[in-house]
Amino acid sequence: MFDRISAVPPDAIMALMQQCQADERPQKVDLGVGVYKDVAGTVPIMRAVKTAEEIIFGEEKTKTYVSTTGRVGFRDHVLDLVLGADHPVRHSGRIASSQAAGGSGALRLGAQLAYAASPDATVWVSTPTWANHVPLIGSTGLKLQSYPYYNRETLGVDFDDMLAHLDSNAKPGDLVLLHGCCHNPTGADLSDAQWDQLVPFLNERKLVPFVDLAYLGLGLGLEEDGYGLRLVIRDCPEVIFTVSASKNFGLYKERVGLLGVICADTAHTPAVQSQLGAIQRTLISMPPDHGAQIVERILGNGDLKRMWVDELTEMRGRIRGLRQLLSEALDVQGGEHIARAVINQNGMFSMLPVTKEQAERLRLDHAIYMTNSGRINIAGANASNIPSVAKALLEVLS
Ligand code: LMR
Repeated sequence: MFDRISAVPPDAIMALMQQCQADERPQKVDLGVGVYKDVAGTVPIMRAVKTAEEIIFGEEKTKTYVSTTGRVGFRDHVLDLVLGADHPVRHSGRIASSQAAGGSGALRLGAQLAYAASPDATVWVSTPTWANHVPLIGSTGLKLQSYPYYNRETLGVDFDDMLAHLDSNAKPGDLVLLHGCCHNPTGADLSDAQWDQLVPFLNERKLVPFVDLAYLGLGLGLEEDGYGLRLVIRDCPEVIFTVSASKNFGLYKERVGLLGVICADTAHTPAVQSQLGAIQRTLISMPPDHGAQIVERILGNGDLKRMWVDELTEMRGRIRGLRQLLSEALDVQGGEHIARAVINQNGMFSMLPVTKEQAERLRLDHAIYMTNSGRINIAGANASNIPSVAKALLEVLS
């Protein structure tokens, strides 16, 4: 039967990661896959994570199954982290939730629930969005369409066009996929004022926000990065949201995520909660436990949580410092326009006005790796290679 199977091209981000790993030039710079790297260029295990693991290894007595929706403690702590324990909806009885296999697993679970509830709904995604959003959500059967978002000339958000497009094209009951913070792939986020304008717009048109929060704490701060999601949950009757612990806990390969669903009425919550367990059972039966146990331990222990917050603050500071350096290096070499964008964008990513051919030249001639769309992961650079990155970039753009 496998003679009927045809090969598919490799995932662009994963292929880029492998291509960079195979490059033997010592000066290579990996601005590809979205992982946080420290000054030494390694993807570190956070100290809080190591400490929590040691406790777990000492105390864990069984590897038996937990449940289809994962750990209650993990879900409670993550909800407290992203919403704040005193958020008006936190204890309203309107939240259903499930642990998931990473942010991606949560996106798939949320999309599968949306399809079960409303198979004719369209999910509107930003142009551009994280490439994997499309197959993850689209393979449920839901239709996807795009709304304008990033302007490759101004290197900022086309907010008016976004609203105008949704206004004319989205129908009541459609979902709008929004990046909670640190937009992937552009780094261009909605401002608080834009979130304030967006929420009543969504409500008036009966559009359902589907918020992907994958980089909490890596943009402006734990509090600041959650502004949009907290507002949406406070004011919109129904919301789907996903949280990832891949980046801010550095737990990439452990696959730790959370799906949250806000129901319009407490009467709907038990049915939705039961569906989450049933859907997850059909997808992967149960989410992996180890990483979720680590997050639960960290968030549930004052000392470990402080240690984690300090490390996250350090990581965010390093990313902001690298943005500053890149912006200055571009500015002094004649790239003022890109310099301004880089400093105004948030999180690991920025999207540069680079064509596919220019991205290829950067790889071949300069051993600088970025996606063909021009996305760079700033956290992959360091102070010593930033001047040459800026120089090579301006050279291929000239
Ligand atoms: C990225 O955007 O580079 C990361 O989220 C890794 C991935 O799975 O694509």
